[in-house]
Amino acid sequence: MISTPKQLVIVVLLAFAVPLTIILLVVQFITGGINADPNSSAMSDSAIAKRMQVLNAGSPAQIANSATSNSIIIAEDPGESLYNTVCQACHAAGIAGAPKTGDQSVWAARLELGNDVLYQSVIKGKNLMPARGGATGASDEDIEAAVDFMLSTLQ
Ligand code: HEC
Repeated sequence: MISTPKQLVIVVLLAFAVPLTIILLVVQFITGGINADPNSSAMSDSAIAKRMQVLNAGSPAQIANSATSNSIIIAEDPGESLYNTVCQACHAAGIAGAPKTGDQSVWAARLELGNDVLYQSVIKGKNLMPARGGATGASDEDIEAAVDFMLSTLQ
């Protein structure tokens, strides 16, 4: 097969070049998956700055104060956040006979009961409303804050 010196040189060179190329391709294949693509949107300057901002945001109160400018929606009032996560499921639309949030006419008679009675109705449950409105982990204070928030929408 190898009859001239020229052929010998070519064969020797290929004997080095081919395995070397394969090794380089394998290395690139492995490390290529690890390197974050600097051109991807997740690695853009603004995306990094945004993540840094979350890390550096400080106390929850500071985050809440800057929430409007950063358009991160964090309810400042614990009653409001409990309402948003649990109570609104029934009260926003008035499901299962729940008095609808913000609807003066359905709340008038209940308001006459006084806040303490309303708090107790929620804590103990009333008809189709489960105890604590279903928020079993919520403290009495949380429930009262959520009721206060609901009632604050009536003014
Ligand atoms: C599964 C649906 C449901 C959820 C969730 C729910 N409620 Fe209710 N809620 C009701 C219904 C139904 C009533 C009306 C009970 C009645 O008077 O028959 C009611 C009544 C109330 C009343 C008036 C009680 C009274 O004595 O008149 C308050 C205050 C209230 N809910 C607050 C809350 C709060 C605060 C939460 C969240 C922690 C909550 N509810 C979650 C269904 C729900």
